[in-house]
Amino acid sequence: MLRLGVNIDHVATVRNARGTPWPDPLRAALLAEDAGADGITAHLREDRRHISDADIARLSEALKVPLNLEMAATAEMQAIALRHRPHAVCLVPEKREERTTEGGLDVAGDLARLTDYIAPLREAGSRVSLFIGHDPRQIEAAAQAGAAVVELHTGAYCDLDTEGRLADRDAELAGLAEGARLAASLGLEVHAGHGLTFDTVGPIAAIPELAELNIGHFLIAESIFTGLGPAIAEMRRRMEMARG
Ligand code: PXP
Repeated sequence: MLRLGVNIDHVATVRNARGTPWPDPLRAALLAEDAGADGITAHLREDRRHISDADIARLSEALKVPLNLEMAATAEMQAIALRHRPHAVCLVPEKREERTTEGGLDVAGDLARLTDYIAPLREAGSRVSLFIGHDPRQIEAAAQAGAAVVELHTGAYCDLDTEGRLADRDAELAGLAEGARLAASLGLEVHAGHGLTFDTVGPIAAIPELAELNIGHFLIAESIFTGLGPAIAEMRRRMEMARG
């Protein structure tokens, strides 16, 4: 079965644009839960541009489905994760100026530090996931670092599709499929996400090693027109269709 994690960050983006309590990301998360989300993902960024510390506390308290806390591998974020002990922690690279998470983590270049960083999170009971590209060096390093999960970055695949660069897109898809095979062979659970839409989700969902997709921006955008429940239901339908 392929799980769908719904990322509710951009409900908080809209809220923070006006400094009001609404729209409330917790309300969106509970609605997503009712609509069949298998998990909720929230990215607590260092600059708190969308999700806040209070959001993480409320989500931890109220959710029935697992919470996947996305965060940079900093001391501050580790302390927060150890306080809330979410089901999963997904470590992502973070640059203050970026609009969204642009690339994957350089696990191979930061192996000793990340190995030490992951250990207490594991001991606290969180499944640690590393957000990486499909480069075999990074996948092998993720296994060495003690991660339980890798999340493969689908952003480049989605951008190439939008730009109509179909040969490059298909090469990227082949790389993702190869990466998923390697990760699974090393005993890692394999997730994928970033930039996925109704148009791009099918070929990614068809990669048999994948256990979970994390999707946010498109679902929140689509919910303006159809509501969040129907947007999630349609995404699930396309995921299931791809699995046959
Ligand atoms: N996975 C990870 C690790 C991410 O950082 C993000 C974006 O926060 C997503 C998935 C979801 O990406 P999108 O919002 O483009 O669907």
